Amino acid sequence: MNAQIQEYAKRLKLSWIREHYHELEASSNENYLLQLFEKEIEQREERKVNLLLTQATLPKASGNPFDWKDIVLTAGMDKEDLLNGTFIEQQENLIFYGGVGTGKTYLASLIGLNAIQKYGRPIKFYTVASLVNKLLEANEKGNLNKLFKQIEKLDLLILDELGYIPLHKQGAELLFQVIAMCYETKSIIITTNLQFGQWNHIFGDPILTEAVIDRLIHHSHLIVFKGDSHRYKESIIQS
Ligand SMILES: Nc1ncnc2c1ncn2[C@@H]1O[C@H](COP(=O)(O)OP(=O)(O)O)[C@@H](O)[C@H]1O
Ligand SMILES: [Mg+2]
Repeated sequence: MNAQIQEYAKRLKLSWIREHYHELEASSNENYLLQLFEKEIEQREERKVNLLLTQATLPKASGNPFDWKDIVLTAGMDKEDLLNGTFIEQQENLIFYGGVGTGKTYLASLIGLNAIQKYGRPIKFYTVASLVNKLLEANEKGNLNKLFKQIEKLDLLILDELGYIPLHKQGAELLFQVIAMCYETKSIIITTNLQFGQWNHIFGDPILTEAVIDRLIHHSHLIVFKGDSHRYKESIIQS
């Protein structure tokens, strides 16, 4: 390989070209250049998707095809809209409500995966408990702004498992700040096993609860997961 070409490619940050420029065969100069650009762009997009996937921390999916039988969508929304993340373009929220093992986390992850792979969107998956812990820790260390800035860069925030544990006062307030920050500027998917009427038990304060619900349900779609637990089904199949 030509050292000078490699050096220039390095300075221009053309990493595919730097390593592989000599591998291409072309019918003309123009065709050669075209192929170089195509390969470089392809590699950059691949790297971007990998980085977004790493940052998103989505849970590992089982790979089962998603069963829509017991999923009740709001009027005017279909499976394709959901999977393609049309709601993200409109800065709308999704509320996934249903029992354990009905596919809430799974569907949220599939939507997140599509948003990254098809549209290159920055997203982040947190369980509510892990986000609240992170917020409390950041607050204690004086890093809250840094964490807020990371969240501000997202198109979609997935908050999984609201309702499994009640939040302490400060945790609840910090979570509200995140939800308020996302209001009308980005999308949230929130999964929960509790009806709105019971959210008071999580946030511990009726005024705060009302403020949270208000921000979340304005511009939102409620999706109800009515099935039996797939975990139970899977464990029966496995045993
Ligand atoms: N509707 C579904 N279609 C296909 N698999 C499902 C569905 N719901 C659940 N599963 C399977 O059960 C596992 C547990 O589902 P999960 O999404 O974690 O449930 P939830 O978050 O509602 O408690 C998933 O990883 C998946 O393998
Ligand atoms: Mg879940």
